[in-house]
Amino acid sequence: MFKKIFSGVQPTGNLHLGNYLGAIKNFVELQNDKGNECIFCVVDLHAITVKQDPKELKKNIRETTATFIACGIDPTQSIIFNQSMVPAHSEAAWILSCVSRIGWLNRMTQFKEKAGKDKEKASIGLYSYPVLMAADILLYDATHVPVGDDQKQHLELCRDIAQKFNNDFNVKDFLKVPEPMIQKKFSRIMSLKDGIKKMSKSDPSDLSRVNLTDNKEEILNKIKKAKTDPLPLPEELKNLTERPEAENLLGIYSSLKSQDLENSINEFSGKNFSEFKKRLSEALIDKIEPISKEIKKLLGDEKYLDSILLDGSNKADKIASKKIKEMKELVGF
Ligand code: TYM
Repeated sequence: MFKKIFSGVQPTGNLHLGNYLGAIKNFVELQNDKGNECIFCVVDLHAITVKQDPKELKKNIRETTATFIACGIDPTQSIIFNQSMVPAHSEAAWILSCVSRIGWLNRMTQFKEKAGKDKEKASIGLYSYPVLMAADILLYDATHVPVGDDQKQHLELCRDIAQKFNNDFNVKDFLKVPEPMIQKKFSRIMSLKDGIKKMSKSDPSDLSRVNLTDNKEEILNKIKKAKTDPLPLPEELKNLTERPEAENLLGIYSSLKSQDLENSINEFSGKNFSEFKKRLSEALIDKIEPISKEIKKLLGDEKYLDSILLDGSNKADKIASKKIKEMKELVGF
């Protein structure tokens, strides 16, 4: 079936294995499935919902673009662009924020996590972040949105917003209600330091994640120091319960090898962690080292990266400006 794919990644630095295994790897597979139309966005408007250093932000926009390309997104096949270059995103976000209900946004768990204890001091942008995300998706009539498990609630909200807009303005199917694409397995990669915490760009400990720019030595060191438990590796799937670190590391290994968790359990059944960690490091180095080298190479050519974003933004703008024009007419502008 023909799919229109849209997804986004924030340029907030430290793109990591969770971003890769939970999302970007899937982007590449969808792109390579001929017939799909794919749009991948560097969501810089989302990034400024928390304070950013302007110089760092500029660097991170290029780094995220380089990461897309280094992971296998081909700018001649897919559109790669940054959100702030296409004005329709901000305009649609405003219109949709007038359709969205406060009660819906109050339920968003990611806002609660990110805002922390002092909600009053969080930016309004952080609160209405999921509305901008809905605008991103709906402007392109995306049929499918590949994301990691943590974005599930935002996509459900996007579907509600689309349906309410269509109802309010009596236009059946004007905004397409998108399908989330969340992998059934390994869609939430956990921290290397704590198996019940999500691997995250913002974790203050760099040892908690494998960054896509890490070199061989860094990967070896992080896996060596990754938290485990005192037992040997399990012999059966059911023995993984209440062993979050073992489950996470075996999950990472399985995802890298594109195999089921059961296969990895059989492979390492009863062995100790040191042996498993050696194999896990090898699998990670095989996958991440070429990506890391390519990112660094691409970062040396800022002109090239800027040209990709400019070209992608022109293409995205053609699609989005048509949709926002229709939206404005419906609203009565
Ligand atoms: P962001 O930048 O936080 O993350 C980018 C993608 O990586 C996935 N991800 C993970 N997957 C598995 N395990 C993890 N530990 C992990 N950490 C991150 C995320 O689920 C995401 O798919 N709001 C989005 C960006 C966005 C977007 C959009 C996505 C803006 N507009 C429109 C889709 C469609 C975000 O902050 O992703």
